[in-house]
Amino acid sequence: MDDPYAPARDALAGGGLGGGADDGDAGDAAASDPAILAARLDDNDPLSAFADRYRVPDGVLYMDGNSLGPASDAALASLDRVVDEWRDLLISGWTDADPPWFSVGERLGDALAPLVGADPSEVVVGNSITVNVHTLVGTFLDELLAGNGPERAGFERADGTWDPAVDPAVLVNELDFPSDHYAVRAQLRQRGLDPDETLRVVESRDGRTIDPRDVEGALATHDDVGIVFMPTALYRSGQLFDVSRIAQAAHEAGAYAGFDAAHSAGAVPHEFREAGVDFAVWCTYKYLNAGPGSIGALFVAERHHGLTPALAGWWGHEKATQFEMNTEYTPADSAGAWQIGTPPLLSAAPLEGSVELLREAGIERLRAKSLALTDFLIALVDDRLPEVGVGTPRDHAARGGHVALEHPDAERLSAALTDRGVVVDFRPPNVVRVCPAAPYTSFADVLEVVDGIGAILDSGAHEEYATGGGGVT
Ligand SMILES: Cc1ncc(COP(=O)(O)O)c(C=O)c1O
Repeated sequence: MDDPYAPARDALAGGGLGGGADDGDAGDAAASDPAILAARLDDNDPLSAFADRYRVPDGVLYMDGNSLGPASDAALASLDRVVDEWRDLLISGWTDADPPWFSVGERLGDALAPLVGADPSEVVVGNSITVNVHTLVGTFLDELLAGNGPERAGFERADGTWDPAVDPAVLVNELDFPSDHYAVRAQLRQRGLDPDETLRVVESRDGRTIDPRDVEGALATHDDVGIVFMPTALYRSGQLFDVSRIAQAAHEAGAYAGFDAAHSAGAVPHEFREAGVDFAVWCTYKYLNAGPGSIGALFVAERHHGLTPALAGWWGHEKATQFEMNTEYTPADSAGAWQIGTPPLLSAAPLEGSVELLREAGIERLRAKSLALTDFLIALVDDRLPEVGVGTPRDHAARGGHVALEHPDAERLSAALTDRGVVVDFRPPNVVRVCPAAPYTSFADVLEVVDGIGAILDSGAHEEYATGGGGVT
C-alpha cells in the first residue's frame, strides 16, 4: 500500500472519530471506531516491528521520548562494544578500536548528516546543546564584530566601511527553551554588549506559537539584528517552524540564521544545507535515543568552515596535526572545529546504534508515521476529552513530534498518568506533553493513552496529587 496510514487520514477527513456508521462519508462503521481503526493502522504499519527493538518496560506506555528516548538493543550493543574496547584496549582504543575513538565526533556527524540534510563535513557531535549555543553564537558574534558578517545597511558607513558603533543584536523568541537565552545573553555580555539592548525577543500572539510574520516584522523593524536564532520546533507547544522561510528572512535582512533543533532532529527531516542555514545545534537524548546526557550535535554550513570557534579547544584542531601539540590553534576545516575537548566516548557510543536504527526505519517514513499518530491523538482528544485543549498546530507543516494537551490541572494530570504507567511530562503552566514517537509507539498505544486521560479526569483521580512538585519530568 502506498500510504499505510491512509485509513487514519480517510477516517479523519470523513468527519472525525467515534461517531459510528453515520459519521463521515465512508459509511464504514469500522473506519470510525477508534479501536478497529487503531488495529488496522497497526496491521498496515511498515514500522511496527521496530518497537520490539526498543526496551520500553512492560506495562509502560512511554510518551516522553521528546525528553529522553528509550534504550534500544542497537544502542546498548554499541555502548557495550565501547565498554569492552576500553577494558581490552585501554589507551590504544583511540587508534586501534574498530572504528577508532579518535574520529568519533566526525564519524557520528557523518551518520547524522542525512537526517538534517547536510554534507557530512557540516555535522559533528560534541559538547552539549547549551555549550554549542555558546560557541556558535559566540563565533558568529565575533564575525559580526570583526566586520565580516553578512552585509547589512545598519552596520555600514556611507563609504561601505564597517561601523563598530552599531552593536549587533540577536533575535530570539519568548517561547524558547530558557537555556538558549541564558547562553546568548552570556555571549553578548562577554563581548561588552548589553543583553537588555541587544537580545531582541519576538513575542507570541497566543502564548503557544510564534507567527513567522512576527519574525519577519522584527527584522524589518530592527536593522541591527546580526543573528536570528530560533528553534526548529518549540519545546512546549511543539510548533514546527519553517526553517527555510526564517533562514531566507534572516539572510535578506543581512543576518545569520541559526537553529536549535532539539525538538525535531530524528523526528522531522530537515534540509539545512538547501535552506541556507548557517548553524544549528541539537541533542541526541530525545528523538535520537542515545541515552541520558548523551553527546550534543551541531551543524555549521560549509561556507563558514575555517573560522575560529569562540570556544576553541584541542579537539577542534586540524586533525592531522592535533598531536603535534602546537600552542597555535589551527581549526579543522569542517564543523569538527566546533568540538572543544575530548569527546565523552561512553555518552557518544549509544548514538551509533540508535541512529542506525532510525536510518533503517527511514526519516521520511518515521515522519509519516509520526504525523499519523499525532493526527489520531488529536482526533481522539477532540472526540473524547472535551475538557482538554490541543495547543499544538493542527497543520502538518507546523507540527513537530509531540502534542501539547492543555488542561488547568495539567500538573496533577501528568503525575496521575505517570503513576499509572503512562509516562508524559508537564510543562508550566498548563501543558501535558504527549509524544507518540514513531519508532516504538502503536496506534493502539495512543488510544490507550487517551482513554487513560479520560478515566483519570472522569474519576477525579488526579485531584489526589499535589502541585508545585518541581523536579525533572
Ligand atoms: C530546545 C532545547 N534547547 C536546549 C536544551 C538544553 O540542552 P542541554 O541541557 O543538552 O544543553 C534543551 C533541553 O532539553 C532543549 O529542549
